[in-house]
Amino acid sequence: MKVLGIESSADDSGVALIEAQGDFGPNFHYSVLGNEVASQHHAEYGGIYPNVAKNEHIKNLPLIFERLPAEKPDVIAVTHGPGLEPCLWAGINFAQKLATEWNVPVVGVNHLEGHIIVSLMRYDSEQKTVNSEQKEVDLTVRCSLFAVDFPLLALLISGGNTQLVVSDAPLSYKVVGKTRDDAVGEAYDKVARMLGLPYPGGPHVAALAAQAREKNLPHSTKLPRPMLSEPNLDFSFSGLKTAVLRQVEGKTLSEDEKAALCREFEDAVADVLIGKTMRAVEEYGVNTVVTGGGVSANTFIREKLMQALDEAGAKLLVCPPALSTDNALMIALAGYFHALKKEFTDPAALTANGNLKLG
Ligand code: KG4
Repeated sequence: MKVLGIESSADDSGVALIEAQGDFGPNFHYSVLGNEVASQHHAEYGGIYPNVAKNEHIKNLPLIFERLPAEKPDVIAVTHGPGLEPCLWAGINFAQKLATEWNVPVVGVNHLEGHIIVSLMRYDSEQKTVNSEQKEVDLTVRCSLFAVDFPLLALLISGGNTQLVVSDAPLSYKVVGKTRDDAVGEAYDKVARMLGLPYPGGPHVAALAAQAREKNLPHSTKLPRPMLSEPNLDFSFSGLKTAVLRQVEGKTLSEDEKAALCREFEDAVADVLIGKTMRAVEEYGVNTVVTGGGVSANTFIREKLMQALDEAGAKLLVCPPALSTDNALMIALAGYFHALKKEFTDPAALTANGNLKLG
């Protein structure tokens, strides 16, 4: 089955074409025939403006689609949530137009399910997931999915989401913990803004934090670890953000002071993310954890998480960086499994749901 994937939930426009066979399990194989992403640059606004982003998607989707092999798919998979609704509509309208032209069925895909499934990606030639530092996806080799023992735990950390999800079986999900206010990526972006760093702030804050560790700068402040000791799996990042603001307000910080503050912020974030993940691992008897979303590209968080899981006898599967941010390959993959189950949607009835939930 050939599946065209379409992604436009935030500021990345993506299209991908895969050819897949077999059901979820050892007989599943696929080839990536094309995977194209166009990223927008919202640096000058310090954030994403949904209507500006929507117009960019409308412009970019046809352009990147032209770069895919000119083959008619058997089904179209499109992200219908969660995300920014004007942006989601750009992808949905594009899918509707193609579905009518080709007379092929459509499946609506939950963006977060895409992040979970693509974390299991592996090349047939390798016995592990594709978690190298590869920037590009190798289109020449056949792929499959890493065999996992359920339950599987997913830590989804991005600019729009912070969730812990337990999956007891393929395509079945239960959200067991989530943020009660800001997403973790949003907290990174806001801290970056307070320090005068560009958007998106995550990589800049992470770079300063790494500098502070390298220089072994003194620890001058202790920030809170919100909700860490509460007996649940939820998160809160707005208090942490406010605590950073208190350190910055009315002061001119030196470069070293900024770096030390970024390190303390990142330590607090890592302590909370990892503490809650380990609590979930224990509560649900999990031995495989996946992580996805923009913040999962953070080396410090990845390494600390890997270490904690290792000590608990569990393993971490991650995407190559090229696939941990938004892309359509993950949407085509998730869409394939729903197409196998004939979970098609009437293209005309497809709607965007900014708050679409998993499970
Ligand atoms: O998943 P993603 O590409 O897009 C959506 O959220 O939709 O995630 C983007 C988020 C931004 O908040 C960005 O600051 C953050 O991921 N991010 C990072 C890193 N790289 C990206 N945060 C911390 N460390 C990083 N290395």
